[in-house]
Amino acid sequence: MYSISLLHQPKVHFFPDESSWISGVISEILVEIPDKNFSLVLSGGNTPASIYKELCKYKLNWKSGNIFLADERFVPGSHPDSNKKLVQETLLTPAKYHFWNTEEGSIPQKAVEEYEQELKKYGKPFDVVLLGIGPDGHTASLFPNSPALSEKTHLTATSETEEFAIKERLSMTYAALMNAKKIIFLLKGEDKKEVLDELLSGNKTPEEFPAKKILEHENVHVCFGK
Ligand code: 6PG
Repeated sequence: MYSISLLHQPKVHFFPDESSWISGVISEILVEIPDKNFSLVLSGGNTPASIYKELCKYKLNWKSGNIFLADERFVPGSHPDSNKKLVQETLLTPAKYHFWNTEEGSIPQKAVEEYEQELKKYGKPFDVVLLGIGPDGHTASLFPNSPALSEKTHLTATSETEEFAIKERLSMTYAALMNAKKIIFLLKGEDKKEVLDELLSGNKTPEEFPAKKILEHENVHVCFGK
């Protein structure tokens, strides 16, 4: 058993259905958002779309908001698997969006260096980071046993996966993701129960289950919807 007692215990919230999960997640986000100049880090994947669609209905001072992506697949923004596309189609607000450069002429290493400069220019802790967890325990695009897991200084890294459709990935590193006031894991559906059990009480190490490292942060919430 990899003892998470050495880490901070996350606050786990269970929700019986999708609508209570959405409103519960929104409440956990809004309570951290200041009147202006806030920042959010969003993840891709299938889980968060309903959260983003609901969140943009709320009257935040969006014009003063900065929205970042925890990671990106190295595909053009028009590609169906693009996280940029997901966010542009679900979280329509006047906020400033910081998308990774995956367009024609960009290369992964150049894209991560550019994004690192954007993060450094922003230069403040994020208010809220929203993360998912894949079946292999990856979060953002930090995959098991990958070099990016041991990156201590850079805020971004390229990564690759053989497990999922889009192999080439760009990701914030732990150093970036954990520079936040609050981190919320979004888990929904029966197939994420196993992921939750491993996160909270499994014996995999963070190298084997990268989401676990995030539990070293002192303010992690896990929102699990049935
Ligand atoms: C991505 C995400 C990734 C995602 C997990 C969970 O770009 O795919 O950032 O880390 O959060 O893979 O994805 P689901 O929400 O689809 O289960």
